[in-house]
Amino acid sequence: VTTRSGSILRSSTHPRWFEAGAADLQALLSDHLHCERKAAENALSLVRRYPHRADAVAALSRLAHEETSHVVQVAGLIARRGFTPRADTPNRYARQLLAAVRGREPERLLDALLVAAFIEARSHERLGLLAAGFARAGEGDLAAFYQALATAEERHAEIFIQLAAPLVTAAALDDRLAELGALEAEIVAALPLAARVH
Ligand SMILES: [Fe+2]
Ligand SMILES: [Fe+2]
Repeated sequence: VTTRSGSILRSSTHPRWFEAGAADLQALLSDHLHCERKAAENALSLVRRYPHRADAVAALSRLAHEETSHVVQVAGLIARRGFTPRADTPNRYARQLLAAVRGREPERLLDALLVAAFIEARSHERLGLLAAGFARAGEGDLAAFYQALATAEERHAEIFIQLAAPLVTAAALDDRLAELGALEAEIVAALPLAARVH
């Protein structure tokens, strides 16, 4: 499978999002901790549901391992800043996107992989905005931290697309990416600007 050039996202985050996100660093980092945890859990839940897909099992397990290392890194950053992580709060963004996953196979697996790709792609965009914003604010540590994680999330989006691509024709893949991309942009546009990743 060839690597797709450019992001699958159909929209850019609001320019004032960084300000809102950085306004409450403890809330932002707590939400980020839970995002990484949920990314690891989601990858392993796909292993639970699709154990017969050996290639996917290997890729998803490695992904879960890497996401878990991100949980460790975010937890370390939270501790260095003297914060205690807060409890997870409902994520409207992910919940609305997951509601678009169709119930019957093989559409269910295709959609689950593509929704995960969009969440990774949006995380990539937003962690990149955090890296740039913190760099402007003179927060070099935070900027470097977020730049490293943003790069990882971009790769993760590609992994999910590569797992999805063999399931359908190239045209069907593009169609579904267009539908989900439009939906994702709509969901993001309706989110409040808040101290969370999405
Ligand atoms: Fe991650
Ligand atoms: Fe990721």
